[in-house]
Amino acid sequence: MNTRTIAFANQKGGVGKTTTAVSIAACLAENGKRVLLVDLDPQANATSALGLQKLEGGSVYQSLLGTAPLAASIQPTAFENLSMIPSEVDLAVAEVDVARTENYLHRFRLALQPIHDSGQFDFIIVDCPPSLGILTMNALGAADRVIVPIQCEYFALEGLAVITRVIQQIRDSGANPVLELSGIVMTMYDGRTNLAQQVLAEVKKHFGMKLYKMAIPRTVRLAEAPSFGKPITKYDGGSYAAWAYRQLAEEILERESPNSEGVGVAGKEGN
Ligand SMILES: Nc1ncnc2c1ncn2[C@@H]1O[C@H](COP(=O)(O)OP(=O)(O)OP(=O)(O)O)[C@@H](O)[C@H]1O
Ligand SMILES: [Mg+2]
Repeated sequence: MNTRTIAFANQKGGVGKTTTAVSIAACLAENGKRVLLVDLDPQANATSALGLQKLEGGSVYQSLLGTAPLAASIQPTAFENLSMIPSEVDLAVAEVDVARTENYLHRFRLALQPIHDSGQFDFIIVDCPPSLGILTMNALGAADRVIVPIQCEYFALEGLAVITRVIQQIRDSGANPVLELSGIVMTMYDGRTNLAQQVLAEVKKHFGMKLYKMAIPRTVRLAEAPSFGKPITKYDGGSYAAWAYRQLAEEILERESPNSEGVGVAGKEGN
């Protein structure tokens, strides 16, 4: 039984990591996949986006320190096939406490191992905080793949260069030899602007096939959904945004089903 762990990461804030992680988790679940969404961000945005409470002691924090099994933190959600490990503000302290432990970059991997081995989930989706701190590095240490959401703005490419280098370093240093960039997702895309088209062209030029074809449109429906505690597929399932995320989920499934060959690391094939 194969479980695929995908981290949604970008050190830049507000680029659509949480919206994309939550929406893709929901789409995969809708597709019949058994999904665990892990909120690794002390802001706990993914937790509230699915209508879960931020409970003290309910996050990955204790498990990162090795004092509680991570499986005990798994919560059901109101949505079929979708479970979650919520976050809470205490997780902010983890950056400091985990840094003092041995193997501090592998704490999440160790904590996740029994859940991974149990085969109870097809996908583990990890929403990362906007930094390259201990929590994000732990996510990258545990993941098989990384999906990088980017906003269509001038600095997006510089940010991409940083995170792709970090992924490479983590893989090459042996910290996580299987880690690979799954792909880049354009978020809050408005094709009518020149900037959006320019950024899209640049990302295509540098990353080729690694760019997921479906660009997520900028729409207020996606910004509204979290306040109802529902993913877009439940908040407005017939919307263009829901359709776009379903399309993206199809692409991700094609690329990341455990037996698929994916896209070459260089990512320029077929470009
Ligand atoms: N496609 C979209 N159209 C309109 N608004 C969006 C879209 N995607 C995300 N948003 C909104 O933009 C804001 C930032 O999105 P989100 O929280 O997903 O980014 P993030 O990268 O997780 O942020 P952080 O770095 O703080 O964790 C949120 O208010 C969200 O509702
Ligand atoms: Mg977020």
